[in-house]
Amino acid sequence: EKGGYDYFMLKEIAEQPKAVADTLLGRIDVAGSLTLDEIRIPAEVLREATKVVIVACGTAFHAGLIAKYAIEHWTRIPCEVELASEFRYRDPILDERTLVIAISQSGETMDTLMAVRHAREQGARVLAICNTNGSTIPRESDAVLYTHAGPEVAVASTKAFLTQLVACYLVALYLGQVRGTQAGDEIRAVIRDLAEISTAVERVLETMEPVRELARSLAAKNTVLFLGRHVGYPVALEGALKLKELAYMHAEGFAAGELKHGPIALIDEDLPVVVVVPSPRGHSVLHDKIVSNIQEIRARGARTIVIAEEGDETVSPYADHLIRIPVTPALLQPLVATVPLQVFACELATARGNEVDQPRNLAKSVTVE
Ligand code: M6R
Repeated sequence: EKGGYDYFMLKEIAEQPKAVADTLLGRIDVAGSLTLDEIRIPAEVLREATKVVIVACGTAFHAGLIAKYAIEHWTRIPCEVELASEFRYRDPILDERTLVIAISQSGETMDTLMAVRHAREQGARVLAICNTNGSTIPRESDAVLYTHAGPEVAVASTKAFLTQLVACYLVALYLGQVRGTQAGDEIRAVIRDLAEISTAVERVLETMEPVRELARSLAAKNTVLFLGRHVGYPVALEGALKLKELAYMHAEGFAAGELKHGPIALIDEDLPVVVVVPSPRGHSVLHDKIVSNIQEIRARGARTIVIAEEGDETVSPYADHLIRIPVTPALLQPLVATVPLQVFACELATARGNEVDQPRNLAKSVTVE
């Protein structure tokens, strides 16, 4: 049932182009607009929402962090993202005009479920983004947008994450469409790009052999740092989480702009530092800032592993290892940038002799608080 792969995780990584395409299927009409009738929250409620609050745990939380950039940019609705386990213990401010989005692969995560219950008690509308039909979180929410990743068996989430991102983009674009924001042209253009994005994911998967080799060469390291900016920051957090749970290595994700506020003290000879570089077209200022971060890290002797768009030559002189990803609209970059980090963590786990599908101490769904 592993379909010829050694681990479910490898199979699930390989299934990502299909999972992404399936999650888009039937949701973009021939005219290029979104039809999300399954969101049974009436359009006027969506139009009048004054705030979006996203609650989730672990990898799903990272999808939520990325969603915030998309929602605020395309809809101009303020959006907060919170770990479900923190959310309800802090007496959050919610009302009938708050749209809460609960993201959960399993639909059974207790912390997220408790956050959903709390939000509904306060009168907020709750939309679940979930991969498991008929599970508890969608049943207790006002509406659900299912991700169509298919069953995810490996404890480390991969294809569910990519489809959570797709679902988040769909919700963000749909909110923009329903509310008729100024980003209308951009929204239509991004919908077209999203419709093609599974091909880009497939292309990344075809170029992963050097990433595997690199991972094997780092098997004896103790620490790996991950840096990113904008939507690349949650990608860095996700890369670090994957490495912790699979390779049992110390790994941390940082916002690259924070480097000089502390983390740069950690940089020393031969420390592997993975840097996710934003698109030079989408974010030229951020791009240039991150290139100087890479220079600073390299000047201190660290080993730089750079994930950058095809055609971005400015990074080449400072990269000890360069991982290329296809050109995408800036906000969609996590769909391609995350994939090498999944492969990297999986290969490192294998090289260190760890159990890939069932990492120690972890359960696939955490049904206790
Ligand atoms: O089923 P959920 O999406 O609610 O699960 C949330 C987290 O427990 C989950 O993403 C966890 O962090 C994964 N093991 C990460 O790979």
